[in-house]
Amino acid sequence: MRTEVVSAVRAGQTSSGSQANDPKQTGGTPVVRPDSSERFAKAIKLLREGEVVALPTETVYGLAADALNADAVAKIFEAKERPRFDPLIVHLPNRKALAEIAMVEAPIASQLIEKFWPGPLTIIFKKCDTVPDIVTAGLETVGVRMSAHPVFREIVSALNRPLAAPSANRFGRVSPTTGQHVLDELDGRIPLIVDGGPTEYGIESTIVRIVDGVIEVLRRGPIPKGALQPFGEVRERISAGVIIAPGQLLTHYAPKTRLALVDDLKNFLTPNGKRVGALFFCSPAGIGEPGPRSTHTAAGVLRDVENFVAVRHLSQSGNLREAAANLFRMLRELDAENLDLIVAERAPEEGIGAAINDRLQRAST
Ligand code: TXA
Ligand code: MG
Repeated sequence: MRTEVVSAVRAGQTSSGSQANDPKQTGGTPVVRPDSSERFAKAIKLLREGEVVALPTETVYGLAADALNADAVAKIFEAKERPRFDPLIVHLPNRKALAEIAMVEAPIASQLIEKFWPGPLTIIFKKCDTVPDIVTAGLETVGVRMSAHPVFREIVSALNRPLAAPSANRFGRVSPTTGQHVLDELDGRIPLIVDGGPTEYGIESTIVRIVDGVIEVLRRGPIPKGALQPFGEVRERISAGVIIAPGQLLTHYAPKTRLALVDDLKNFLTPNGKRVGALFFCSPAGIGEPGPRSTHTAAGVLRDVENFVAVRHLSQSGNLREAAANLFRMLRELDAENLDLIVAERAPEEGIGAAINDRLQRAST
């Protein structure tokens, strides 16, 4: 199958620098820039016909199919090589559509919807019979969210059907945050990628369920614990022995290269003769962009990092949102350096930092 990439980035916003409407070749796969009138016609047509299409969301790219069409959803599992026991998140065209697929029983859920939809919060509900079993892997519940990404919203609204969409990577791999990442993962396996540029948050949505009036966080994400607390007691079920969400599988976000997670990279000694890459959380304020072979400690002392073959900083300034947005891209970049080991530094455990550490922890196991 030939995978087509259409850019949803408007003229002047393109990051690739290529000309609009100028078909070009990238690694054998044609990249076509449509004019705006037909921007999403192809994606909508394919989805109507029961095909899968990769779409940008505000968190990561999703591989979407009509959630109410079991055959279409099966193609998601095939393209991703995803085991059938791992349920998918359903994305709504509008809030009203929730009643067609799920039962909202807890008043807290309604308040969370009011506050966070559209946005990066997935809520687990009791499902209606309309949702095919393949979507929920036979569970009685369904994970639902409403994406805030303008491209995703335009397409799902035009379709006016809920879309099942897991992250658009092959199973067990790092989620894609650019159209190119999706192409790297799924080239030849899906007919179309709508490229909306890099995603805003860079990590997957926060997943919650309401149990006896308590908000249980099943996956950490862009909506941190603190933002949920005004709505009720919050309990994190992240590292519980029992896996409730298969996304809690320990190796769910693995790069191919072995990854070690440390509290402080300053004190890391690279093993002799090994190709080691470093993923710093930040570089100290006021020093600016460090060179490829050196960085600085907080005290401003020049520190030799020439033992690292490759170095990345999640955020030069230590901004957690920026760090989250860069995380999966930098993991992919380091993964491509043919290293023996990636050493990553923990982010501060606050706000979205907890979700960053969660991903790093899983990548390291
Ligand atoms: O930000 C996101 O959530 C992205 C974008 C594309 O929307 N999607 C995403 O989907 O991360 P996926 O399939 O990669 O991760 C969804 C997680 C899986 O770990 C799945 O096990 C869990 O949600 N999940 C889905 N339905 C569930 C359910 N009914 N009960 C418990 N966990 C569920
Ligand atoms: Mg995923």
